[in-house]
Amino acid sequence: MDQGAMKELVGKRAVEALVKSGMKLGLGTGSTAIPAVRHIGFLMRQGVLKDIRAVPTSFQTTIECEKWGIPLFTLNSAEIGGSLDLSIDGADEVDPQGRLIKGGGGALLVEKIVAYASAAYAIVVDESKLVPNLALRFPVPLEVIPEARVPAVRTLEALGAEVVLREAVRKAGPVITEHGNLLLDLRFPRPVDPSALETEFNRIPGVVENGFFTRLPPTVFVGHADGTVTSRK
Ligand code: A5P
Repeated sequence: MDQGAMKELVGKRAVEALVKSGMKLGLGTGSTAIPAVRHIGFLMRQGVLKDIRAVPTSFQTTIECEKWGIPLFTLNSAEIGGSLDLSIDGADEVDPQGRLIKGGGGALLVEKIVAYASAAYAIVVDESKLVPNLALRFPVPLEVIPEARVPAVRTLEALGAEVVLREAVRKAGPVITEHGNLLLDLRFPRPVDPSALETEFNRIPGVVENGFFTRLPPTVFVGHADGTVTSRK
């Protein structure tokens, strides 16, 4: 089974295992979360799922929900009241303790707000995302306000990070997030403590949020090349 098929399968399995009628759902971003969103839309059209209220984590997710007629709200809507029953999202890396890197798609800010407002959290990944240590292979992103770029980079380099400003594709210059900010991608030459860094990064003036998600922990659904899906808490 190729990676695309694994992503389709794992998203569907997570939805079938966890999503129930009447739930307030956080819906993630990226190529693994979107098949889960589509499956929710499909089950709603079939009448299998009813009374779903969803909070999307990005424009990508919003557009997909609009296509499927999934009712959309914000965390601040009266219908949501600031908390969710369950959120489903993808991840760029997952370590053995269920700590994550997210934000490869640039949506980490709302993804984290939604994740930390959820009573239950499910991550859907293919097996290539499982790693022994975070941030050695895939960079951890930081969302930073434009005015803080150079001082934030200096501080991060002093913490041992190799820092790259994320460049846009088919637009000259850097990626601008959905909140008007820049993204810095950080790699580390040796294993780090993601739980400590999640807090430490956010103390740097101008850093809005970072892509270490360490305080959950999630139920992780993993799609494997042999066509099986495993899950672990
Ligand atoms: C979006 O900002 C991310 O957090 C995604 O959830 C993450 O990058 C995983 O994306 P894929 O499922 O496309 O690999």
